[in-house]
Amino acid sequence: MQENTTQHLTSVFANEVREGLTSFPKYLSSKYFYDETGDRLFQQIMDMPEYYLTDSELEILLDHVAEIAKLFSHKDEDFSLFELGAGDGKKTKILLRHLIDNGYRFDYRPIDISQNALDSLEKTLIKELPPITINPLQGTYFETLAAIGKQQEKRKVILFLGSNIGNLLHPNAISFLRQLKDVMAPDDLLFMGMDQKKHPQVVLDAYNDKTGITEAFNKNVLQRINMELGGNFDLEGFLHWEVYDPENGTAKSYLVSKKAQEVFIDALDLGVSFKPWETIHTEISQKYDDEVVKWLANEAGLQILTSFEDKKGYFKDYIFKKN
Ligand code: AVI
Repeated sequence: MQENTTQHLTSVFANEVREGLTSFPKYLSSKYFYDETGDRLFQQIMDMPEYYLTDSELEILLDHVAEIAKLFSHKDEDFSLFELGAGDGKKTKILLRHLIDNGYRFDYRPIDISQNALDSLEKTLIKELPPITINPLQGTYFETLAAIGKQQEKRKVILFLGSNIGNLLHPNAISFLRQLKDVMAPDDLLFMGMDQKKHPQVVLDAYNDKTGITEAFNKNVLQRINMELGGNFDLEGFLHWEVYDPENGTAKSYLVSKKAQEVFIDALDLGVSFKPWETIHTEISQKYDDEVVKWLANEAGLQILTSFEDKKGYFKDYIFKKN
């Protein structure tokens, strides 16, 4: 990443930390879970048996790949497959392999904020799927949306897997979907994973593992404040707490202060006091049903073309097009 980009991101982080820790109730955004350590912890979360989301979506892609590919393209027309937040591409590879083996004409355009992540993804894909054409796009979702919009000459299919949209509150999800709709042509498709409402205990277990990986993942935001902004959070002084409301389908994560404590953040010249059992809200992981998805799509000017689900009905991938 360029030095001025890094400086800009640090100051955005600093401003958001000040805003969140001086509010009542306190909050910090889950987007700051992710640095090298956070990426590694999230990888471990996706491998946990309790975190059903990954296996459910893998099952959907394995079982329906041929049908999905046919919806993406008639083999004779070129298309671009964009992917927001590509990660290690484990799930996408199922799709890419099928497209390549069956002679589909496409280029793969993974999008990520980290050039490192894109470089290593490109390397593995060129090794594992040699004929692939890969044109990565580095930047935030917001920056890259403009680049996506400029591509008008062939069909665009945009992938957004893993229920990443669930980390946004409904109004933010709608405005994000609207931005995607605005860069789509009438023939373009949006393929999006959305975790479904289910037995509340299954959801709670997914975000509450006994091994403490999810706890460490949440606490990584405190660790980043310590490392990047000169904070002195005592990580042992907080516990991770998960709640799930089956009525609205919202899972919420908190860090809870176990005692009265003072924290100082050098870069912000800011002291923060915590009362015993005071909370920092860190993440929402929204669970959906068809009715809510239809509403979100409609608000954003999209419509559901079709959807695919795993056998347990835990997870769905929806295909949207413009209204
Ligand atoms: C990335 N996102 C969809 C994950 C989720 O399920 O909300 C992040 C996560 N948080 C705790 N475990 C996984």
